[in-house]
Amino acid sequence: MSVGPTPPVRRFAHGSRVPGWDDAVDLTKDPAVVPDPATTPVPDELRAEIEALMERYPDRRSAAIPALHAAQRLHGWCSPLARTQVACVMRLTPAYLTSVASFYDMFELEPRPLHDDVYVCTNISCSLRGADEVLDALTAAAAGDETVHVRSFECLGACDIAPMASVNGEFVGPLEPSDAQRIVDDLRAGRSVLPEKQLRSRACVDPGAHPGGGAPHPDDPRAS
Ligand code: FES
Repeated sequence: MSVGPTPPVRRFAHGSRVPGWDDAVDLTKDPAVVPDPATTPVPDELRAEIEALMERYPDRRSAAIPALHAAQRLHGWCSPLARTQVACVMRLTPAYLTSVASFYDMFELEPRPLHDDVYVCTNISCSLRGADEVLDALTAAAAGDETVHVRSFECLGACDIAPMASVNGEFVGPLEPSDAQRIVDDLRAGRSVLPEKQLRSRACVDPGAHPGGGAPHPDDPRAS
């Protein structure tokens, strides 16, 4: 069989294969379609949380990620309704928020039953300190339990407590495989997860903190 010459790739005037992809966006223009507050009911609690988030930033769009998280917490997933409600309060288009939510894999764009998220960092620092064994142990501990979702994740920015995991947003580490069952047990019992290994309990984060109310962490200068 003879193969003919490869047809040339079609290019547009500016050299791209996708028309307009590198056109500069005019960020000063009003968004095209913003949900109408008169026809878009937003739960009071969600509205108040988003407004408080927007006040933290000079540009309200900087609050998009925490605002989407708030809506996801309320709705269980980042549904079209959730995005529309956030867009309504933030005066943005739902499309803008969809572009943000679809980029980050902490947002659920498909409905899922309520569950706990355990993200085990398997990036370089955690990997070198045994993250794969921690991930295996957690996967085994949660096996068959659809309410606990365990997955590997890229660097979560807490390399100093490697190997670590984010459990529903709570950073815990350094972890050992033997911590896995307790993490799952704590989640099932609705308890705070591994309080003595929570990042927030370390003296470098909160100088007044004593992990679990007990002795300082061994890495804490107060322990020596
Ligand atoms: S490599 Fe795991 S938190 Fe950075």
